[in-house]
Amino acid sequence: MFRRLTHLALEHGLNAAYQARLNQRGNVAEGVFWRNKSAQYVRFDSLLQQVGQASPHQDTIIADVGCGYGALYDFIKATPKYQHLKYTGVDINSAMIKACKQHFPNEKNLFSIGRKPRQMVDFSLFSGTFNLCHINKTKLWEEYIFDNLHQSWQLSRYGITLNLLCDKQSHIRNQIYYANRARFIESACNLFGPTYATSTPQVTGDVTFIILRK
Ligand SMILES: C[S@@+](CC[C@H](N)C(=O)[O-])C[C@H]1O[C@@H](n2cnc3c(N)ncnc32)[C@H](O)[C@@H]1O
Repeated sequence: MFRRLTHLALEHGLNAAYQARLNQRGNVAEGVFWRNKSAQYVRFDSLLQQVGQASPHQDTIIADVGCGYGALYDFIKATPKYQHLKYTGVDINSAMIKACKQHFPNEKNLFSIGRKPRQMVDFSLFSGTFNLCHINKTKLWEEYIFDNLHQSWQLSRYGITLNLLCDKQSHIRNQIYYANRARFIESACNLFGPTYATSTPQVTGDVTFIILRK
């Protein structure tokens, strides 16, 4: 109960920051704190490649957890090699989900407010979901991350893929969280299943992880 309340308090500030940024910049990569569209899209491609390599069948259902204004869905629609993916998106921020519904007026039902898939999916995917944080307590933030991953893990048939900025030691600097790659792998292996990491092409320090069911 106390943990849940602490996590809700963490999200309160983040929601305000994301909403202000979206209002300021609109439905563009910079509107969800990415440097530019290229930095956003290479991350998407890296995550989806991991899913493709691990996916046992053609019609793979993915949940984009922390979907922002729905940029991953635009990317999937525009990329021939990802046409087999069935997309759904969730975000804790109601302003983001409103933006998704306005952007995809004929596919509003693909998007909903939440922190985990609405129903069972093949893979949950997180792009940048845990980068921005408004506290200076690394341990507490890591506990928050694993708590959220756990909620999606229970609704993911084959696994989870996510990206995190990484550094020699895990820390928070300028409201950005940096994980320690080896330690993240160790924790995810212990809590969930075999975990693999690859450096995200063209984005210094960014690592794409995939956690699979045994
Ligand atoms: C950096 S933005 C990335 C948005 C999108 N994935 C993209 O790459 O364009 C992070 C998003 O994750 C959302 N978010 C943060 N924590 C979340 C959580 N625990 N569950 C679901 N969404 C979350 C934020 O509201 C924000 O929209």
